[in-house]
Amino acid sequence: MSAKKTGYYCSICGHFASRWMGRCAGCGEWNTYVEEVVSPGREPRKTEPRELPLPISEVSPADGERRSTGMTELDRVLGGGLVPGSLVLLGGDPGIGKSTLLLQVAGAVSAGGHRVLYVSGEESARQIRLRADRLGTAGPQLFVYAETDLGLVEEQVGAVGPSLVVVDSIQTMFSPDITSAPGSVSQVRECTARLMRLAKDRAVSIFVVGHVTKEGMIAGPRVMEHMVDVVLYFEGERNQTFRILRGVKNRFGSTNEIGIFEMSGAGLREVPNPSSFFLMEHARRDVPGTVVVPVMEGTRPLLVEIQSLVCPTSLGVPRRMTAGVDHNRVALIMAVLEKRLGLMLGNCDAYVNVVGGVRIDEPAADLGIAMVLASSFRERAIDGRTAVMGELGLTGEIRPVTAVDKRVREAARLGFRRCIIPRQKGIPADAGGIKILEADTLAEAFGLVFG
Ligand code: TYD
Ligand code: MG
Repeated sequence: MSAKKTGYYCSICGHFASRWMGRCAGCGEWNTYVEEVVSPGREPRKTEPRELPLPISEVSPADGERRSTGMTELDRVLGGGLVPGSLVLLGGDPGIGKSTLLLQVAGAVSAGGHRVLYVSGEESARQIRLRADRLGTAGPQLFVYAETDLGLVEEQVGAVGPSLVVVDSIQTMFSPDITSAPGSVSQVRECTARLMRLAKDRAVSIFVVGHVTKEGMIAGPRVMEHMVDVVLYFEGERNQTFRILRGVKNRFGSTNEIGIFEMSGAGLREVPNPSSFFLMEHARRDVPGTVVVPVMEGTRPLLVEIQSLVCPTSLGVPRRMTAGVDHNRVALIMAVLEKRLGLMLGNCDAYVNVVGGVRIDEPAADLGIAMVLASSFRERAIDGRTAVMGELGLTGEIRPVTAVDKRVREAARLGFRRCIIPRQKGIPADAGGIKILEADTLAEAFGLVFG
C-alpha cells in the first residue's frame, strides 16, 4: 500500500473529519481534533452462526443471576448487581478513586470465591499489591496482571478463567493490529469493541476504567459510551472526601440511582445514610442564606443544604453564579421573587450553592431556592429545623412535587420539626411528629417560613 491514509478524530466525542478543523462538528468543543491513521477495513471474517433468530416468546426471560459486587451502593447503581457478560465503563477524573473502587470490588468478589483478574496498564503488580494490602483486599482468588497488550490480556482471561475482569485503564491498552498510539480514538474504540466481544463470548463481567481527559491527545470515555452496556461516572471534589457514583447509561436497569461513598485512609467507604452525611455541617445554624431541601436521587430521598448570598452589586451587570443548580432556573426564580414578592433583586449579585457538590435537577427544589434567596436578601434566617419543597410557577403558585411522603418522612427521620410543602395529594397523615405546613403561593410560603 502507498502512504498511510490519515484522518482527524475528535478526542472528546470521536467525531471523524477528513481535514483538521478548529471546532468539532460533533460536540462543539474547540481544539480537539487529533490526526490518526485510518485503519484499513479488515478482511471480512467468516462468521459461524452462534445463535439463530427466535420468536420472542421463546426467549428465556431469566436475567441471568446477578452477582453482588460486595458494595450495596454500587449494586444499586448497577440495577441490583453485576450482570454476567456485561461491559461496564467507569469514567471519572484522574485521582478520583476509580482504581480504588474497582480494587475493592475485585477484593470483595474474589473473597466470595470467584476468580478475578485485575489488569493494570497504569501500575505495576507490586504497586497494586501494596494498595490491596492497605485496602485489605488481597486474597488468593485475585489475580493481578500488569499488561497493556490487549491480545495478551485476552489470552490470560482464557487461561485464568475469571468471572470478573477489571481493565485499568482503557487509555493505556492497545491492540497490536492498529498502528495509532494507545489512548487514541481508534485504539480506544478497537479495544472497547474487543472487550465487548470478550465479555459476551465468555460471559465474563468486565469493568473498564476511562479517565476523563481535559486536553486533546487522549480519547475520553465519551468515545466509548455508546459501545458499552453500562456507563458509570465517579464524581466528587478532590479536596473533599465524599464521592458520588452516577449511572448515565444502563442496559440492565435504571439510571436514576446514585451511590455515595466516602474516601478514607482505608479506601472507599459506603455512606448508607447520605442525608445525615450531607447535613453534617448544617448543624442547625440559624443564619441567613441557608435552607434544607429534600430532593429525590432515584428512589431515595436526600436532604441537602442550599446556600445563597445576595448583596448589592458593584458592577454594571450584576453577577449570578450557581453551583449544583441550573443557572437559568435561578434566574427565573429571582424574576418571580421580584415580581410576586417585590424583592428588588435586580441590582444584586446572587450566588447559589448546593453544599457538598450535589447536583439538583428537579423543580421540587424551586421553593427552597426562592426561600434561601429571600433569606439572604432580607437578612433573615430560616429556622434550621425546617425543610422546604415545591415547584414554583411563573405566577407565583406552588405546584405539587413527586414522592412527597418519602421526602417528608426523610425530614422527620432526621429530626426536622417542620416541612413547608405544596397543597397536594399524598401528604402523609402522620410522619413521625413533623409539622406539615401547606402553601399555595409563594407569598403564603414566605409567610410560613419567615413567620
Ligand atoms: P485512585 O483510585 O488511584 O484514583 P484513579 O484511579 O481514579 O485515578 O485514587 C487516588 C486517590 O485516592 C489518591 O489521591 C489517594 C486517595 N486514596 C485514599 O485517600 N485512600 C486510600 O485508601 C486509597 C487507596 C487512595
Ligand atoms: Mg487509577
